[in-house]
Amino acid sequence: MAATEATTEAATDTYHWWQTGIVYQVYPRSFMDANGDGVGDLQGVEGRLDYLRWLGIDAIWLAPIFPSPMADFGYDVADYSDVHPLFGTLADFDALLAAAHERGIKLLLDLVPNHTSDEHPWFVESRSSRDNPKRDWYIWRDPAPGGGPPNNWQSHFGGDAWTLDPATGQYYLRLFDTKQPDLNWRNPAVRNAVYRAMRFWLDRGVDGFRVDVIWLLIKDARFRDNPVNPDWTEGERPARRYIRQYSEDQPEIAEIIREMRALVDSYDERVLIGEIYLPLTRLMAYYGENLDGVHLPFNFQLITLPWDARGIREAVDAYEAALPPGAWPNWVLGNHDNTRIASRVGLAQARVAQVLLLTLRGTPTCYYGDELGMRDVPIPHELAYDPQEKLSPGYGRDPERTPMQWDTTVNAGFTAGKPWLPVANDYPTVNVAVERDDPTSMLALYRRLVDLRRATPALTIGSQRTLDAGFAYLREHEGTRVLVALNLGGDARTLDLGSAAAEGTTLLSTAPDRVGAVDGARLVLGANEGLVVRLA
Ligand code: GLC
Repeated sequence: MAATEATTEAATDTYHWWQTGIVYQVYPRSFMDANGDGVGDLQGVEGRLDYLRWLGIDAIWLAPIFPSPMADFGYDVADYSDVHPLFGTLADFDALLAAAHERGIKLLLDLVPNHTSDEHPWFVESRSSRDNPKRDWYIWRDPAPGGGPPNNWQSHFGGDAWTLDPATGQYYLRLFDTKQPDLNWRNPAVRNAVYRAMRFWLDRGVDGFRVDVIWLLIKDARFRDNPVNPDWTEGERPARRYIRQYSEDQPEIAEIIREMRALVDSYDERVLIGEIYLPLTRLMAYYGENLDGVHLPFNFQLITLPWDARGIREAVDAYEAALPPGAWPNWVLGNHDNTRIASRVGLAQARVAQVLLLTLRGTPTCYYGDELGMRDVPIPHELAYDPQEKLSPGYGRDPERTPMQWDTTVNAGFTAGKPWLPVANDYPTVNVAVERDDPTSMLALYRRLVDLRRATPALTIGSQRTLDAGFAYLREHEGTRVLVALNLGGDARTLDLGSAAAEGTTLLSTAPDRVGAVDGARLVLGANEGLVVRLA
């Protein structure tokens, strides 16, 4: 072992793996298809583990792999404790988990506790009659006095959040698709059933869960109407029409998350990551009053904010200031629900974005293919699969879910069959095989960033302080000072950092020709340059 590696390990071994590690999201339908049916599968992921090890990530978060009618591509679960035949079998899962662990890679599953599929046996029973013992496992309400839905709650995908069941004359709540009825988390039997499923996977050895829409689990007990959003404008996404005051983020959620956390903590070194789209002030509550909430409430600001240096710097400061004592930060750059970073900010800035993600204080979460600079593939409305596109045209998520680009062979090496979504046209140049051999590629930059992060405790566990000029921050650990300076624009610019930064040497730059000494006090950044400097 090299000397630097040994010191790094010594410095970071009092931290948990989910603090120092990098999380990589695999969307299993689109990562690698081993059996040629056009849809990715578990054997496919297993076959690509050596790539992920080479890439240097620490944990895979697998989007849902459970039996499902696929109305929302796996986020409509019909059985929490099995694998969809499209993806393989439980034996394939065990093999994948073992192979990942052999390579030192953790594996997280996607827990979808807010709703099931309408084809889940629990719901089939629940809808069978008003007095079925499982009736109260879901949220059934009478029509409003004059008829129609019980209140004004809207689906996140668009339209009413209620579906009438003509046979029993009541509506069921579904905050997403009509095929995704919401479970009633006020019912202890529901909690126990989901906790049993969590144990099923934890006992098999999974390293934790990313918990889907965790902030939605509990709704207002009185089902009050949501207030109208005064900022909503015609043409904007329908789901924003009301402020979701009563249909999300209710105080009782804390108790449920505490229960989930206690369950996870009864195993060794497992993690709970919560999917939460909320403003900072409300997000922080999800760490739990005594840090007994989720370990990492996803911080989506790099996705939700405009790509603007000042705005992002302020967000970094606001986030750090809002963190409860002892809480560990995290940053997310992309996922299967949002436009890819390279499509949002362009290729040159996507490189800067990777520097940002991999040098900020906190656990980074990366989306498959972003390490290559993969871009969204436009999918016409008529050809869309995504239920959100069907209910809110223009807001579809298929474009960011297209097949991983492995090489220059047909279908980018993703499948021998017909891929379920089209492969991007740029695959002959944007792919793992080509970029691996090109020192100027996005993939090469990503690899260097991961290496640098791993070798530099200041970047993983060091303190962080943003500087006043432009967008720059200092990371510091035991006397090692690392300066990160980012140019979020297309013109060169000079940062006057004054006494905050001295002479330094370049550790890494997005600009291939930048090497050697740097004047840290008066820093000249090239267009679209992200620079990491070791200060003297
Ligand atoms: C989460 C998932 C998204 C899904 C929704 C409903 O936001 O990330 O893909 O459609 O929950 O489960």
